[in-house]
This record gives sequence, structure tokens and C-alpha cells, in this order.
Amino acid sequence: MTKPRVFITRVVAQEALDQIAQVTDMEVWPEKLPPPYEVLLEKAQDAEGLVTLLSDRIDAVLMDKAPKLKVVSNMAVGYDNISIAEATKRHIVVSNTPEVLTGTTADLAFSLLMAAARCVVEAANYTRKGQWKTWGPKTLLGQDIHNATLGIIGLGRIGAEVAKRGRGFNMKVLYYDEIRQSKEEEKQLGVEYIPALTKLLSSADFISVHVPLLPQTHHLIGAAEFALMKPTAVFVNTSRGPVVDQRALYEALKSGQIFAAAIDVTEVEPIPPDDPLLTLDNIIITPHIASASFNTRTNMALLAAENLLAGLRGQVPPVCINPEALR
Ligand code: DGY
Repeated sequence: MTKPRVFITRVVAQEALDQIAQVTDMEVWPEKLPPPYEVLLEKAQDAEGLVTLLSDRIDAVLMDKAPKLKVVSNMAVGYDNISIAEATKRHIVVSNTPEVLTGTTADLAFSLLMAAARCVVEAANYTRKGQWKTWGPKTLLGQDIHNATLGIIGLGRIGAEVAKRGRGFNMKVLYYDEIRQSKEEEKQLGVEYIPALTKLLSSADFISVHVPLLPQTHHLIGAAEFALMKPTAVFVNTSRGPVVDQRALYEALKSGQIFAAAIDVTEVEPIPPDDPLLTLDNIIITPHIASASFNTRTNMALLAAENLLAGLRGQVPPVCINPEALR
């Protein structure tokens, strides 16, 4: 019996590749940079399964050129790179990798929050550049994290983990979400629901965004929202770049409307080298590494493999975004 053809768009954890190789005719894109779209189109032509990353665009054009495609297994929790409705129409199941990266992503969000509040990157650069001449009573002053108010936008799995980290620092934790948690859940997490985003923005010392990228969350945070924040506010985004109007973020940081920001995602990734944000000292920009720990990337790859293999067998993957595709 011929094995199903599978294309994997990057070298992922060997344990996962070994599992996939046992039962498929597998090809792995060996480069560090993603396969160009034209290559992806060509590779998808005879593939029954794809393992993709958030940098791979999987749209209707590609699906039309891939008549055998049964499953797209995205190694990420976010799946805004895939046209889900188009996949469903064509009975292609799409899966993602939630849960396994929750704690790791929350760790980075909180690391960024702390680093931006206490000017850690700026201070380390200051030392390296030989600018440390004395102990200065007003040198590199930042914002206190403990006892401050943390505002979380989107209390899903990751938002809830960030809330726990905030409680560990004795922060008051507020959250805004379209869907309110149960009273029990709120009590357990020690969080307070704020029904209006505007109120959360004006009350919080720290604001951390944890929403998926959807048409309704595009530029959720723009000039009007930054204008509501305190001049001492620290803004963190580890969700998706287009959730924030980056031009407005630049203006808010440049004018001192807010104190600092730290973002792991940008509107265009990678961020163009001439982006004005890169000229500012009061922002930390990391290259979309929120889930980048050794353990988590292995677990993401293993879950992506499990999802892929189920989809190839014609089953609903353990984590499936569109199970209705198989109906
Ligand atoms: C995701 O999984 O969606 C993150 O952004 C990358 O790990």
C-alpha cells in the first residue's frame, strides 16, 4: 500500500518527525526560512497532509491545487494563517496545538511585562555601552510591578495563566473579555471583570493582550485606546501583531503617552528594519518567541504529529478547529 504523502514546512522536533515518517511518505522543508508560497503550492499538489507554521499561508488557491489534501496540522495555537471556511468546504480538517504552550507563552508575556517595567533591556545595553559611571539616584527608573494593577484583555487559557503570575506579584488583576467567566472561576483566579474595555484601559498600570486575530480584533488597540492609558502604563502584546495599530503604538511611546511597551508580535513579521518602533528605547520587541522553550516546542510538534496522523486516517484530530469538515 502506498503511504500518504506529507509535506512539513520546517524541521520540527525529531521525535515528531520519527512518528510521521513511520507511516507516511514525508518530505521536510530543510531551510530556516519558510518555503516560498509558490513552493508550498507545488508541494501541496500531491500531499494528503501538511504540517504548517504560522508563517505559511494556506488559502483557497492552495487548497484548489491540492485535490488530495485531507488535513492541515498547524503547529501553533493561532490559525489566522489558514482559511478555515475554505478548508471546511473542501472537507479538509485543520488542527492546532493549544494547551501545550499555555504556560510557556504566559511566562514570556510576564517576562516582557517585567523587563519593560524595569527597563531591563535598556539597562543591559547601557552597561554594555560603557555608560555605567556611577550609582545614579535617577538613573533608569522604572515602574513597580508588585501591588500594581494588571489589566488582561482576553481571559482565555493564556490570559488566565498571566493572571496567576500577576497574583503571585500581589497585583490586582482586572480583565475584559467578550465572554465573562463564571463567578467561581473569577474567584479562583482572583480576577475582577470589567465590562468596558475603556474602563480597563484607564484603570490598569499594566495591560497585556491575549486575544486571537479575528476581523473584530484587528486594531483593537489603536490611538483612541492608547489615549486612555495612564502615562505610567506598560503595554504588552504576545497575541498577534495586527491586533494593535503599530503606528499608534509608536506615537504613544514617542510622545510619552504611555511609559513603555513590550511586544513579541508585529503587524508585519519579521518587522522591517526601518520600522520607526526600532528607533525607540522604551519598547522591547522579541521575534515571536512566546512558545519557544525546548520542552514546549517538542510538545507542540508531537501534538501536531498526532493531529496529522489522525486526519490522514480520516478521523477527527484530537484537537480540531473544524470537525464539521468530516461530516
Ligand atoms: C502560536 O502558537 O500561535 C504562537 O503565536 C506561536 O507559538
